[in-house]
Amino acid sequence: MSVQFINTIDRNAVGLRAAWMVQAQLNSKPDSSIVFPTGNTPLPMYEALGRIRNLDWSRSRLFQLDEYCQPEGMDAFPPGVETFAGFLDRVLWSRVDAQKFYLKDMLDDPMQYEGLVRANRGPDLTILGIGMNGHIAFNEPGSPSDSPTRRVDLAEETLVHNFGEERLNRDRAVLPRQAVTLGLSAILASRRILLLATGSRKRGIIRKAFGQHIAPSVACPASWLKMHPYVTVLTDFSV
Ligand code: F6R
Repeated sequence: MSVQFINTIDRNAVGLRAAWMVQAQLNSKPDSSIVFPTGNTPLPMYEALGRIRNLDWSRSRLFQLDEYCQPEGMDAFPPGVETFAGFLDRVLWSRVDAQKFYLKDMLDDPMQYEGLVRANRGPDLTILGIGMNGHIAFNEPGSPSDSPTRRVDLAEETLVHNFGEERLNRDRAVLPRQAVTLGLSAILASRRILLLATGSRKRGIIRKAFGQHIAPSVACPASWLKMHPYVTVLTDFSV
């Protein structure tokens, strides 16, 4: 197995190591294409990236990993629900001078977006979190390794994680329940993949995904990463 595990002391250390990897990527290849995730896990990475001085983003190309879709008949998200584009702008993108590709502009044509991501043979670096159900991006359980970039239904577990049970029960009809996700096929075409997992509650799913005697399968989409030659898993717990 070609997965490299790095265990650090806490989520800030994971963020710092991840930021250094992005810095190294940009220093070695200034015109890198990098795919960025949203969620709680990468927040310390974005903070650490914001603190690195003199990082030259000017030739880089930044891509969103996924984006919520509006529920039918709605033209805005309800209060407290941020688009992933808005999230990325807030935590990093608005402050860097890079070429940014917004999935929200192409929700109706996911394969056109995949084409942009795959230009130059695929992203140089894709950064991922992992869902408690093993999803990467929003490739939920049941996703084969050749999944294209597409519109998907979010798993119930994902909805509960993202909105909380109470809000989901109250506002289900107006909350985004679908997203467009970069497909596993495009993710696996990335030259290098960095998966971040913090909080010991993620230990079980990391073991399930990367356990030596467990074959990759649709039951745990993150397990497909074992087929990739260059994956780093950064955790703040021992695996
Ligand atoms: C977000 C994404 C998701 C998250 C995952 C973990 O863009 O694609 O796969 O990475 O749901 O979310 P957190 O980090 O909030 O635990």
